[in-house]
Amino acid sequence: MIRANLLIDSHGRILRDLRVSITDRCNFRCLYCLPETEAAQNFYRGRWANLPNPAPISRQWQPKSKILTFEEIERAVRLAVGLGVQKIRLTGGEPLLRHDVEQLVARLARIPGITDLAMTSNGFLFPQKARDLREAGLQRISFSLDSLDRENFKKITGRDGLDEVLAGISLARELGFHPVKVNAVIIRGINDHEIEALAGFARERSLSFRFIEFMPLDSAHAWQKGLVVPGREILQRLQACHPLLPATSDNPSETARRWKFSDGRGEIGIIAPVSEPFCGHCNRLRLTADGKIRTCLFSIVEHDLRSLLRSDASDSAIGDWLQSVVWQKEDRHHIGEPEFVQPERTMSCIGG
Ligand code: GTP
Ligand code: 5AD
Ligand code: SF4
Repeated sequence: MIRANLLIDSHGRILRDLRVSITDRCNFRCLYCLPETEAAQNFYRGRWANLPNPAPISRQWQPKSKILTFEEIERAVRLAVGLGVQKIRLTGGEPLLRHDVEQLVARLARIPGITDLAMTSNGFLFPQKARDLREAGLQRISFSLDSLDRENFKKITGRDGLDEVLAGISLARELGFHPVKVNAVIIRGINDHEIEALAGFARERSLSFRFIEFMPLDSAHAWQKGLVVPGREILQRLQACHPLLPATSDNPSETARRWKFSDGRGEIGIIAPVSEPFCGHCNRLRLTADGKIRTCLFSIVEHDLRSLLRSDASDSAIGDWLQSVVWQKEDRHHIGEPEFVQPERTMSCIGG
């Protein structure tokens, strides 16, 4: 049975969080997402230094005609909000690559019923866009920062952009975005030696810093269980150098388990989808830049909203369709199990 006016799945979860990818393009080439070269793809084989660094692997981006327009995104968001969605997060690829992104933010900020309008960005272009985004009504921003070491940052992201990202994080705080969240995907042998330093950075800058387990969503299909640093191990290492107190949460759908520094500001969060899945409380729905609805990060089936938006379907017909799609949401992911199939799309198309 589908309950009226809500997006509810067959496992009883009510979806309140819509994550909208607004471009599949990215200006970074992170190892765990969209590695740029053969050497970067093979990082996990430990042959990094011996491989030649050939020309970048060419990427097929979606043609503009397939990318949802601002009008289409706004309509989709309005319909979802009418069905109980409260949180909207703009993602990519890198959302700041979308032209006039601040105009989209302004349109969405005017939709009644959205309690949280946020964005996930790699931060590189943020200093150029920050003021316009704030004025347009963006409330929160999460950045990615996987290393504090310039060389390692470059190795992981494929770009020499540490200074720009650090400047973006500082500016976000100055402009009043709150909380400013910073995410690091931790990969064994790549940046796990920086865990303590990253936590120190969070404490020094009063940030909410989240350590994320590496998930099999990379274009190279390089993911292996041995590359995942389990959340419990990260926590033990942090507890050994920083006194931590558990933070309370009133949001069961939160991805992170959080701790506060007992002797300082800022907090850390552990996002452990691989070793401690949190699917039972998942309230997230995703819309890709080319207009496909994904009911799970690991969905292998997508649902074509773009065709409907471009047909003469009424709002109420699309709302009914959305409800029937959400009803089919997967109960959980199957990472690490024999039947696991990695989705065709990488995180760069889904958006985190
Ligand atoms: P808020 O929690 O609203 O602040 O959003 P956020 O995007 O800053 O963080 P969130 O916790 O939603 O996502 C951070 C990271 O957690 C993402 O980049 C993903 O790596 C992971 N993540 C987010 N949502 C899911 C999910 O539904 N399933 C799984 N397995 N991982 C997720
Ligand atoms: N595993 C875990 N998190 C990932 N992200 C991207 N790829 C992966 C992956 N393979 C996260 C990054 C970024 C967000 C967009 O998605 O931390 O912050
Ligand atoms: Fe939700 Fe799928 Fe993520 Fe599990 S893996 S938390 S069901 S999106």
